[in-house]
Amino acid sequence: MKKNFFISTPIYYPSAKLHIGHAYCTTLTDTIARYKRMRGYDVFFLTGSDEHGEKIETNAAKAGKTPQAFVDEIVEGFHDLWQTLDISNDKFIRTTDQNHMETVANIFSRLLAQGDIYLGKYEGWYCTHEETFWTDTQVGSDHLCPECKRPVHRSSEESYFFKTSKYVDRLLRYYDENPKFIIPESRKNEMVNTFIKPGLADLAVSRTSFTWGINVKENPKHVVYVWLDALTNYISALGYGTNDESKFKKFWQDKNSEIVHIIGADITRFHAIYWPMFLMALDLRLPDREFVHGLLMMKDAKMSKSRGNVVDPYPLVNRYGVDAVRYYLARETIFGSDGQFTPEQFVERINVDLANDFGNLLNRTVSMIDKYFEGIIPQYPGKVTEFDEELEQLAMSTISNYQTAFDDLKVTDAIVETFKLISASNKYIDNTKPWELAKLEDKSKLASVMNHLANNLYISALLLTPILTRAPQKLFAQLGVEKKLQTFEHLVKYGVIGGQKVNKGEPLFPRLDAAKEIEFIRTMMNG
Ligand code: ME8
Repeated sequence: MKKNFFISTPIYYPSAKLHIGHAYCTTLTDTIARYKRMRGYDVFFLTGSDEHGEKIETNAAKAGKTPQAFVDEIVEGFHDLWQTLDISNDKFIRTTDQNHMETVANIFSRLLAQGDIYLGKYEGWYCTHEETFWTDTQVGSDHLCPECKRPVHRSSEESYFFKTSKYVDRLLRYYDENPKFIIPESRKNEMVNTFIKPGLADLAVSRTSFTWGINVKENPKHVVYVWLDALTNYISALGYGTNDESKFKKFWQDKNSEIVHIIGADITRFHAIYWPMFLMALDLRLPDREFVHGLLMMKDAKMSKSRGNVVDPYPLVNRYGVDAVRYYLARETIFGSDGQFTPEQFVERINVDLANDFGNLLNRTVSMIDKYFEGIIPQYPGKVTEFDEELEQLAMSTISNYQTAFDDLKVTDAIVETFKLISASNKYIDNTKPWELAKLEDKSKLASVMNHLANNLYISALLLTPILTRAPQKLFAQLGVEKKLQTFEHLVKYGVIGGQKVNKGEPLFPRLDAAKEIEFIRTMMNG
C-alpha cells in the first residue's frame, strides 16, 4: 500500500480577491490531506500563488506599483485566508520564489537542448486575459475568446514551441492504461475529443510581448509562458533540480507515493495534456490522479470578480465559524459536479445537519448521562437492547463506506455516510425511549443506550475531523475522550468509549434564525 501522499490545489492568480470558489477548492483538498494524515500517510499538501504574466504586469501598472510589490500584497491576503479556513498545507509556493524561477529556467534550457522546444513564429488570435493564442475557428466570426468570451486581437510574435506531437501517442496510452488518471471520466473524454483528436498544435511556450516572467536564459527577450512556469510549481516545491531533492524523491518519484492534483474544470487542458507531456519530456513520473472539481456558481454565472457576483468567505467565517463554512463547502456540492451557492441552503445545512442532527445529539446524550448516571458514561456492555446489534453493524459499515468514499476522493459521499450514523443515533433514541427505560428497576438497557450513543458520537466526530477542525475537539472534551483515542486506529472495533465523566458544554452549533441570517447573507452578497 502507498504510504506517501502528495496533493495539490492549483496555484491561484493574485489578480483579484479570492472568493468562495477558490476557498471551495482549497478546503476540499484540505479535507483529503487531513483524511490521509489520519490514515497514517505521510502527506505533502501544496498550495501557492501563480504570479507571473501579462495580466499581472498590466494590473500592477494600473495600481501604480511594481509587479513584485503588487503581488506581495495580494499574496499576503492568501496566507490570511488559508489560515482563517484552517488550511493545513505543508508548503505555500510562489512562482516568484528564487528556487522555483531557477528550476523553470533550467527545465526550459534542458528541453531546448533536447530538441523538445524549438524557436518559431506564432501568428494567431491572442486573448490577453487567458494569455492564450487561438485559431480562426476557435474565435469564430465575432472574434471572442472561446474561454472567457472577451475580444481577442491579432498578434504575431517570435516564440519557442514545445513539440506536442512527440508525446501524443504516449499520452493517449497513459489515459488508456490509467482509467482513473482524470476523474470524472467525462473530463478525459472532453480532452480527447475536443483537443487531441482534432489535432494538437505545438504549444507556444514563450512570450516577448511583456517582461514580467522568468527569462529564457538562451534568449532573454523571451519570458517563459505562464503555464509552463506555473505547472512546474508541483515539482519545484519539492526541490526538484536543487541540491536537496529528498522531498522530490519521497513524494514524487518513489512508487510508494500517490500523487493527486485537484483542479477546476477550466484548467483541465493544461493539467491533463501539457503537464504530463512536460513530465514525459523530463523523464519523470506522471501524477496518479487529476481530480476535476466543478465550479461553484451564483445564480447561473460562474463566480468572478469582473462579473461582480463574488461571495466573500470572510464574513461567513466571522459570523458562522470556520466549521460551518468548511462543512457547507464539502457537503453541499457533490465533489466533481458544479454547485450553486445560495444563502437558503447555507443556513439550512447549518441548522439541519450541524445544529439539529449532530449538535443536538451530543446535547441530548450528555444531558441524559448527567441525569441518569451522574455524568459517568456507562462501560460498553455489548449488545443489550433489541436495537443494539443493528446500530453497531451500521456504525462499522459507516466506517468502511466512509473510507472507501474518501479513498476515491468522494468527499461528499464520505460525509453523507457519516450523517447516516448520526441520523440512526437520533432514531435510536426514539426507538429505545430512554425516559421509559429510566423507570425500570434494571438499568442495564438504559446504560447500554447511553454507552451506544456516546460511542456513536465518538465515531461520528472522528470521521468528521478532516472536515470540521473545531467541533470534534469540543465534542471530545464534552465526552471526556482522551487524546490517545482521537485517532483512526481505534475505528476497527466498536465500544471504545465508556467509564469516563462527561462535561456538559455550549451547544456545538447554535440554531440560527433562518430568515434573519438569509437576509444577512443576501445583503452581504449584494454589497
Ligand atoms: O487558473 N468555483 O488560477 P485561478 C470553483 N493560476 N472553483 C473555482 C471558481 C469557482 N467559482 N473560480 C475559480 C489559475 N476556481 C492558474 C492555475 S495551476 C498550475 C495554475 C478555481 O486563480 C479554478 O477552476 O484563476 C482553478 O482551478 C482555481 O480556482 C485557480 O484559478
